[in-house]
Amino acid sequence: MTTKAIVLAGGRGTRLYPVTRSVSKQLLPVYDKPMIYYPLTTLMLAGLREVLVIATPEDMPRYRDLLGDGGQWGISLAYLVQEEPRGLPDAFLVAKAFIRDDPVVLILGDNIFFGADLPGLVRRAIVDNPGATVFACQVQDPSGLGVVRYEDGRVADIVEKPANPPSNHAVTGLYVYDNGVVAVAESLEPSSRGELEITDVNRHYLRRGALDVVFLGRGMAWLDTGTHDALLEASQFVQTIEHRQGLKIACPEEVAWRMGWISDAELLRLADGTSRAYGDYLLGLLDEPGR
Ligand code: DAU
Repeated sequence: MTTKAIVLAGGRGTRLYPVTRSVSKQLLPVYDKPMIYYPLTTLMLAGLREVLVIATPEDMPRYRDLLGDGGQWGISLAYLVQEEPRGLPDAFLVAKAFIRDDPVVLILGDNIFFGADLPGLVRRAIVDNPGATVFACQVQDPSGLGVVRYEDGRVADIVEKPANPPSNHAVTGLYVYDNGVVAVAESLEPSSRGELEITDVNRHYLRRGALDVVFLGRGMAWLDTGTHDALLEASQFVQTIEHRQGLKIACPEEVAWRMGWISDAELLRLADGTSRAYGDYLLGLLDEPGR
C-alpha cells in the first residue's frame, strides 16, 4: 500500500482576474518560485512520492513543462485534466484510476504552509488516520472558508463559508483520506453554488465518527493566496524568512536532496537549469557545515 498524493491546480482563478486570465493561478510566483512548488514540497516533506497533478486542459502543458515526470526530484509525477471546476471532491473522481486501492492525501495548489512540525503531523495522520484527517488553523476572518463548529470542546460540525463563523478555526486545504473517499465523492450532490464541496466529504466522515481534526498551533503559518493583497503578503513572508535565514522555503531540489532521494551529483546537475542565484543556493547546500 502506497499513500497517493494529489495537487489540485485547476480552477479559473477569477478572483485574480485579469492576472489569471491567461496564466494559471498556481503558476504565479510566490516570491522566487511558482506557487505550486509550495504544496508540492509539503507533500514531499511528508514522504509522499507518487503525486498526481490535476489542472485545466489549457494549463496542463505548462505544468508538464515546469515539473516534468518528477524523476529529477526522486518522485513520480502523473497528470490528469479536470475539464470543468466541478469542486474539490471532483479530484477523487478524476483520479479514481490513479488512487486505485490506496489512501490519498489531497492538497490545494494554492495552499502554502510553513512550519517545522507539519511534515511530522502529516506523516502521523497517514499512519493514525481514522478515515479522514483535516488540519485546522486559526484565522482572523474565516467566513470564506470551511469552519469548525465546536460543542463542549469537541468538533460538532464543519460549515462551508458561513456568514456567521462559529469559530476562528478554518479547515486548511490539506486532507488525508482512506480509500473510501472515492465512494464518498461519488455519492455527493452539488451544493447551492453548483460545486461538489470538500466540506460535505468531511462531514460525511464526521457523522461516522471517522474524522480527525488536527489543530495547527501558532507556530505554523498557513498563508492565503486568494487575493492580490494575500498573494503579495505571501511573497513578502517568504522573502523575509529566506533573507533572514539564508534558507529557501519550498525548494523541491533541496527537499529531494535532504530526503535522500537525489545524490550530491544530481543536485549539482539540477543547479544548471536554474537562475544564477537559485543555482548558487543549491551549490551552497553541499558546503553546509556538519555534513
Ligand atoms: O483553502 C482552504 C479552503 O479551500 C477550505 O477552507 C474550504 O473548505 C474549501 O472549500 C476551499 O475553499 P475555496 O473557496 O478557497 O476553494 P476554491 O474554489 O477557491 O478552490 C481552491 C483551489 O482549488 C483553487 O486554487 C482552485 C482549485 N480548484 C477549485 C475547484 C472548485 C480546482 O482545481 N478545481 C475545482 O473544481
